[in-house]
Amino acid sequence: MKKILVATEKPFAKQAVDNIKKLVESAGYEFLLLEKYQSADELIKAAENVNAIIIRSDKITKEVIDAANKLEIVVRAGAGYDNVDLQASSDKNIVVMNTPGQNSNAVAELALGMMVYQARNGFDGNSGTELRGKTLGIHAYGNVGKYVAKIAKGFGMKVYAFDPFVKKKSIKKDKVKAVKSVEKLYSKCQYISLHIPANEKTKNSINYDLLSLMPENAVLVNTARKEVINESELLKIMAEKKNFSYLSDIAPDCKTDFEQNFSGRFLFTTKKMGAQTSEANINSGIAAAQQIINFFKKGDKTFQVNK
Ligand code: 3PG
Repeated sequence: MKKILVATEKPFAKQAVDNIKKLVESAGYEFLLLEKYQSADELIKAAENVNAIIIRSDKITKEVIDAANKLEIVVRAGAGYDNVDLQASSDKNIVVMNTPGQNSNAVAELALGMMVYQARNGFDGNSGTELRGKTLGIHAYGNVGKYVAKIAKGFGMKVYAFDPFVKKKSIKKDKVKAVKSVEKLYSKCQYISLHIPANEKTKNSINYDLLSLMPENAVLVNTARKEVINESELLKIMAEKKNFSYLSDIAPDCKTDFEQNFSGRFLFTTKKMGAQTSEANINSGIAAAQQIINFFKKGDKTFQVNK
C-alpha cells in the first residue's frame, strides 16, 4: 500500500488534517503525519519509506530526496515552491507540484489587514488614516494579487498593477490600472503589495532604486518572501525617509535594526501567517491530497512545476 506523508513544521488546522486523512484512506492509501518537527533529520527519517509527501514551507532538500528512496511525488500545499530542490527531484524522476490559488484569499486578507493595522497606528488610540482614496500598487498580478485588488477596491483604494507575465487586457478587465513598468508602479503608489515569487531573478530585487521612487508615507507590504528584499538597502530607505513603513509576513533578518531604530514603522509576524487559516489549510491540503491520488491512479501531472 502506498504511503502518503503530510510533513508540516507549521501544522494545518486539525479539520484540514482530518479531511486529508479521510481522503487518503478512502482512496486506499496509508496516511502518515509529521507535525511541528524540530530538525531536518526528523523530516529525512519520516520521508524514508513514503511514496508521496505533502508539505508547506518545509524544506525538501537534496538530503531529503536522497533519503526518500520510494518517493514519487511531492506536493507543496500552497503557491511558492522555492523550498523544494527541483533539480534533485527531477534527477530522481520525482514529480513536484503546487496547488495554485488554494490559499490566495487568506494571504490577500492578511495583506489588507496589515495595511489597516499600520494606517491606524497599531490601534494605539491615536488618530490614523484611511485606506480609501489611497494608491495601491500590486507587484505581480497572480492569484494573490487579484484577491488583493478585489479587496482593496472594496476599501475604495485606487488600484494599479504591474506584471510582465500577465496580459494588460486581463488586468484591465478587473478594473485595475495596468502600468507599463515596475518603476511607474513604485512612483505612483503610496502602498506597494509584493506578490513576486522568490527565484534567482527576484531575490534582492526590491532595492534602494525602486523604493526611493515611492511617494511620501510609503508603505511596503510583503506577504511574498523575505528573500526578495534587499535588506541593507531597505534599511537605508527607512533611515532616509522618516515616514516609510515596512510590513512583512515574517520578520526580515535585520529585525533587530528595525526594533532599535524604526519603532512604529514596521509590523512583522512571528511565523509566516498569510496562509494560516482553516479555509486555506483545507483548500490547499485537500487539493494536494487529491493531486497525489490523481497522479497515482491516472498519471495526472497537472500542476507539475519541475517539467
Ligand atoms: C505559499 O507560498 O503558498 C505561502 O507562502 C504560504 O506558505 P505556508 O503554507 O508555509 O504558510
